[in-house]
Amino acid sequence: MRRRLIVGNWKMHKTAAQAAVLVRRLAALAPKNPRAEVVLAPPFTALHVASQRAWRRFALAAQNMYWEDEGRFTGEVSAPMLNALGCRYVILGHSERRKYFSETDAEINRKILAALRHGLRPILCVGESLSERSRGLTATVVIRQLLRGLAGVPQESGRAVTIAYEPIWAIGKNHPASPAQATEAHATLRAALVKKWGRAASERIRILYGGSVTADNAGGFLASPQVDGVLVGGACLDPKSFARIIAAAQSPGE
Ligand code: PGA
Repeated sequence: MRRRLIVGNWKMHKTAAQAAVLVRRLAALAPKNPRAEVVLAPPFTALHVASQRAWRRFALAAQNMYWEDEGRFTGEVSAPMLNALGCRYVILGHSERRKYFSETDAEINRKILAALRHGLRPILCVGESLSERSRGLTATVVIRQLLRGLAGVPQESGRAVTIAYEPIWAIGKNHPASPAQATEAHATLRAALVKKWGRAASERIRILYGGSVTADNAGGFLASPQVDGVLVGGACLDPKSFARIIAAAQSPGE
């Protein structure tokens, strides 16, 4: 059985001092022995303070990284730098990176390969726009993003990879996909992984749902055996809400 994963993507929110407060409040409210692995993804500038406050209760993720290890790349951050801060995960290919920073599948792929080379676990985000969905292109789009993002990743590294299905139309909108829509997309992604790496290797890979997840709807997603966890944006900034989402993952599941 895959251990569930609950990820809080803070996006561009919270100074280092505010991050310390948020992590402390969350530690006080969240279940002490969660069945799920809980991962916090603060901005780069708060990773250090978050790692000091996480007390092994929460793992850390970065929200992005560059594929080179070091060099003349002003403004970029590398996998060895994230490792040194104690990051276990890195979110890659988020739709906001694709949209506002023009990230391509090829660039995301280079980042994924670099993350794996350094022992960081990539969380690859895929998802269709509303117009793609309405034209019946959901499966085509998410499979393309999946396969291009994972190009050249050997089967034995697959277990370190997590996929997040994040339909663009559901992000930050108070308009989540339905659990049935998520289940359908997850099954599509799982089938593509089975085709790529075989059943045994693919069964180890977690597929998360993200897009307007709240304390009230998280349980509905987590009730689907196809949904191995959630990637939470807005609701993770409120420690009470995020603690309730972590608690929602306490039920046995699959
Ligand atoms: P949201 O963001 O929960 O605010 O919709 C999710 C995400 O973008 O990861």
